[in-house]
Amino acid sequence: MNNSLPITIVIFGASGDLTERKLIPAIFSQYRKGRLPAHVRIVGFARRPWNPDDFRAHLLHGMQAYAAETYDEQAWQSFGANVFYVRGDLSTGADYATLHQALNDLESGPANRLYYLATAPEYYIPAVTHLGANQMADEDEAWRRIVIEKPFGHDLASAKHLNEVLHAVFQESQVYRIDHYLGKETAQNLLFFRFANTIFEPLWNRNYIYNVQVTVAESVDVGHRAGYYDETGVLRDMFQNHLLQLLTLIAMEPPASFNADSVRNEKVKVLAAVRPITPANVAGRTVRGQYRTYRDAPGVARGSQTATYAALQLYIDNWRWQGVPFYLRSGKVMPAKMSEIIIQFRRPPHVMFNFPPERLLHSNLLSICLQPNEGIHLRFEAKVPDSVQDTRSVDMEFYFRSSFGDGPLPDAYERLLLDALAGDASLFTRSDEIEQAWRLIDPIMAAWVTPQAPPLSFYEAGTWGPPEADMFMARDERVWRSVCGAGK
Ligand code: BG6
Repeated sequence: MNNSLPITIVIFGASGDLTERKLIPAIFSQYRKGRLPAHVRIVGFARRPWNPDDFRAHLLHGMQAYAAETYDEQAWQSFGANVFYVRGDLSTGADYATLHQALNDLESGPANRLYYLATAPEYYIPAVTHLGANQMADEDEAWRRIVIEKPFGHDLASAKHLNEVLHAVFQESQVYRIDHYLGKETAQNLLFFRFANTIFEPLWNRNYIYNVQVTVAESVDVGHRAGYYDETGVLRDMFQNHLLQLLTLIAMEPPASFNADSVRNEKVKVLAAVRPITPANVAGRTVRGQYRTYRDAPGVARGSQTATYAALQLYIDNWRWQGVPFYLRSGKVMPAKMSEIIIQFRRPPHVMFNFPPERLLHSNLLSICLQPNEGIHLRFEAKVPDSVQDTRSVDMEFYFRSSFGDGPLPDAYERLLLDALAGDASLFTRSDEIEQAWRLIDPIMAAWVTPQAPPLSFYEAGTWGPPEADMFMARDERVWRSVCGAGK
């Protein structure tokens, strides 16, 4: 396929929040950095009765409101000259014929195309079907790719159906399912940390690791998305995608090379090896919580049982990880926005120092701070100077900002967008991977409505989840750890 052809990025749902907040700032930032291929056009496709100037004004407003730091008047003017708009209803077939014609007119010759579905999920199937019906996915001299946002399905059956609809029109190699956590620099760095170094890999297994903890805490509430969220809940919104993706990066075997198939093959194997949660073990292996004011939000059902917090204990049944618990937790309205991975190593097997008998040595911790304070800490024991035999935990620290400069790390969308344009799907989720993730989440959702389910526990806004989450760890004689900063 000819990569030097002009490129058209068609944004479906162009008037929406995602376009304004994330997508356009990411495209513009790459444009300013000179990283976009020459001759890129952006075409918005949505229902609003706009002309291209209205659309440009809408994007400008988004840039100023959400991405003021990357805005630059002069660059914006030249960028704007490549921005166009086609009005259309995403579920009306005839409007795709109009879009197709408008694209052909604009391109006036062969051009590669990236269709970006930044729409509400109910438009995914109509959009794909109409693209197919209008032969807009056919690749002759130019490539055609499609980017799909999460949520990818609501459960395994709907995800499978969506995959079938997609595969009837596009080849898997044309499909880019976005999980923006994979575009975060710190998530990508996990692979470099593990596989560009030799010192940690020999320790990265059941012989040395006592447990792994993944926390993705958010300080925001469900805000204006309450209607969507009440149907979704934290397992579908955060675990099925972001947390399970992080789990795969932590637990996967080293792929032979960094290409989309090798990386994704290894990730799928991890998901396939996760021991299922069933009604028989759901009470011991999950916690579900809801913040106290959640039900007051407009759009939330009275007496809603939707979890805004969850903690899971997962086991990966393979040689490397047998017997090592992975604790995953995520929730809304917690004290801070903070994502962290903790690798807790085993304690030294024998205490040779003259400690009182009840005193144990602390285990070493490796903390990977995904956001904020992006960096890595290694916590170990040191002798307190001028003591006879006292020890204290100290940290060896790496911060992205002190090692690589003060500027903000690029937004996840910047990298993902460039990868999709370059045809590199390594950081996108493959169809079997997404289905495997649903295979893990569906039984938990099902078990949560059985009599064996753990009770829905309530927590105050601004706390680290319900008290049951601490009891859950205490039962295993463990505690939630945090080294990055704000957590406990
Ligand atoms: C989204 C979820 O996928 O991720 C949101 O739908 C959540 O509910 C968001 O707030 C968190 O992303 P980030 O990058 O802000 O941690």
